[in-house]
Amino acid sequence: LLGSLAVGVTVSLADIEAQALAALAPGIGEFVRGGAGDELTLAANLEGWRALALRPRRLVDVSEPSTEATVLGRRLQTPLFVAPTAMNALVHPGAERAVARAAARAGAAYCRSGAASQTHAEVAQAGGVLWSQLYVLRDRGLTRNHVAAAAEAGYHALVLTVDAPVLGLRDHDRRSGLLQSATPQSADSGMATGALATQLDPSLTWADLEALAGESPLPVVVKGIGRGDDARRAIDAGARAIMVSNHGGRQLDGERSTAAALPEVVEAVGDRADVLVDGGVRRGADVVKALALGARAVGVGRLPIWGLAVGGEDGAFAVLDRLAHELRVTLALCGTPDAAAVPRDLLA
Ligand SMILES: Cc1cc2nc3c(=O)[nH]c(=O)nc-3n(C[C@H](O)[C@H](O)[C@H](O)COP(=O)(O)O)c2cc1C
Repeated sequence: LLGSLAVGVTVSLADIEAQALAALAPGIGEFVRGGAGDELTLAANLEGWRALALRPRRLVDVSEPSTEATVLGRRLQTPLFVAPTAMNALVHPGAERAVARAAARAGAAYCRSGAASQTHAEVAQAGGVLWSQLYVLRDRGLTRNHVAAAAEAGYHALVLTVDAPVLGLRDHDRRSGLLQSATPQSADSGMATGALATQLDPSLTWADLEALAGESPLPVVVKGIGRGDDARRAIDAGARAIMVSNHGGRQLDGERSTAAALPEVVEAVGDRADVLVDGGVRRGADVVKALALGARAVGVGRLPIWGLAVGGEDGAFAVLDRLAHELRVTLALCGTPDAAAVPRDLLA
């Protein structure tokens, strides 16, 4: 029953979130929904997009819309990516591979979490454009294994998360005991079993990024950048793309929204690298606003997990398909039918 509700997609994405939260055990629902501290940044991310107002153009021929995007030289049918989320098996047995299949069907890129419940190879069976997020851990041998496994399984990029030198203050998860007990998985995930918090390496610096970018057989994307000067420095250190992100408000509470950080990063980067963004995207209009501010592609973390929880692969697909549909409608109504050429002046 739950699955058919999601697959019908006559409902909005907010409805699917409500259905997922009703279906999941409370500790798991809060693990996905929640943010760090007082959830100021989680709320700011949502409000950041909503507060931007559109200046539509009228009487433009929008009969042949295009949502194609090119990221790191690879073509996507829609300028969307699934942001990495840990331990999807907590939500549905199909886990990461189900979401990766949904992303491939929707023409979006998929980023596997460094704390995934399935191996690189298992997830890669989904096909499509695949990225592998990694945390650099105290045990650098595990990190080297991770890079090798991603390359071996045919992933197209490594996404290094830099906003988590330590784990943020997650009251929900402390209350439920989830992060103390939950273990990511598997041998090649780049992570040992046991809580992530004890494995993160808080001594990570620019020199480590430079070393990783130098050794990696895959292009390196830096995830979690919130300032222009850091973006420039990341590119100098060898990053090929910048992902503006604050981890969906799950790390530093009080950090500004990604909508607020994006323009500064786009300006600092210029045409030296692709700029991506995630955080608080819940509507097609949010995607259009991010594209207008200069993002090449836009990520969603929680939304596909809600779909996964409600309807497995089909639920995750329904969510991505719905978001892509909203994007097409919004582009048409804005008089900007080409997603790859949304002008800055579309925003007031
Ligand atoms: C349940 C959950 C788990 C996450 N796990 C990871 C992770 O393992 N690695 C990572 O870089 N980001 C992780 N994130 C952050 C997401 O990649 C992304 O930045 C964020 O969810 C975007 O915000 P949104 O959920 O509002 O779309 C996680 C987010 C959620 C909601």
